[in-house]
Amino acid sequence: MHTLLSADQIQSRVRTLAEEIHRDHPNGVHLVCVLKGAFVFLSDLARALPGDCSLDFMAVSSYGKSTRSSGQVQLTKDFDSDLQGRDVVIVEDIVDTGLTLIYLQEILRARSPRHLRTCCLLSKPSRRKVDVAVEYIGFTIEDSFVVGYGLDYGERYRNLPYIGVIEE
Ligand code: IMP
Ligand code: MG
Repeated sequence: MHTLLSADQIQSRVRTLAEEIHRDHPNGVHLVCVLKGAFVFLSDLARALPGDCSLDFMAVSSYGKSTRSSGQVQLTKDFDSDLQGRDVVIVEDIVDTGLTLIYLQEILRARSPRHLRTCCLLSKPSRRKVDVAVEYIGFTIEDSFVVGYGLDYGERYRNLPYIGVIEE
């Protein structure tokens, strides 16, 4: 494994993302964290956010032990807060094929938020299968499987403070 993004690089980018989100939502924002991968990102992002903020958590089915998406997305945890008229930002670890986010955006948009935006720490544009809007992106990376800072491989490595690449 080698380091792709150090803990310092991540922390400084997260602070900038939080400032951007605050600038676009001066009256507060509702963050929806996509479990499990985004839990570390969410906790740093929320603490770096200067304004008012509330939180919810959702979960979708994951890759299991594979490093490739099955393309089948399933909602495994939902929440019951009312989103009507609110400014909502989905917080996700990585946008890869985009299938997960397209699915989540559709579900949340149906709940009539005033604005629905998406924030991903990482993006792998070369793997995209659907055209999905992501307003805030931390880092654009090449197509390699990454772990750490919440991201796992077979449930391991989520606790790493940096992002690393598994060499196959
Ligand atoms: P998508 O639906 O293909 O965009 O996949 C998004 C989900 O796949 C993310 O929420 C991650 O959980 C997982 N994923 C995609 N690429 C990676 C990776 O490189 N490392 C770890 N998880 C990944
Ligand atoms: Mg995820």
